[in-house]
Amino acid sequence: MPVRVCFVCLGNICRSPTAEAAMRQLIDAADLAAAIEIDSAGTGAWHVGEPPDRRARAAGKLRGLDVRGQARKVVVEDFDRFDYIVAMDRSNRTDLQQLAPSETAHDRIALLRSYDPASHTDAEVPDPYYGGDDGFERVIDICEAGCRGLLEHIRKRHEL
Ligand code: 4NP
Repeated sequence: MPVRVCFVCLGNICRSPTAEAAMRQLIDAADLAAAIEIDSAGTGAWHVGEPPDRRARAAGKLRGLDVRGQARKVVVEDFDRFDYIVAMDRSNRTDLQQLAPSETAHDRIALLRSYDPASHTDAEVPDPYYGGDDGFERVIDICEAGCRGLLEHIRKRHEL
């Protein structure tokens, strides 16, 4: 059984597809694509069906990341499908905690930056949607650091 990870932000068009792309790059480099499955979703429905924001795609391209996908809203079944539900900010985490159908489900929720040893407690991936292009570059840096830590955590815990 593969380990399954779902990255979650608000719109599923900026941060969570970027985190997914960063994680995919790390997983591929470690030759673990068969062992770890990843996806992303949003707590909001405004952008359902849309591809990632063009600024997120452009920033990713400059850094060798393929930021792709089709936005979807998180559903309660995701708590059964995924071992790790990885929130970008504290608001996403609160929304997910309210949706979690059980204590086990609740325990699957964590902030992405909690896996980055250089981050402080409860650090967030800031929402770049209403800001400039530099916000998207910063999101990539933060996501790469968080995903490195997350992959290390998964490899240890699941002996991969
Ligand atoms: P994301 O960014 O949560 O990182 O995908 C946002 C995308 C859209 C909106 C807010 C944040 N919005 O308000 O439409």
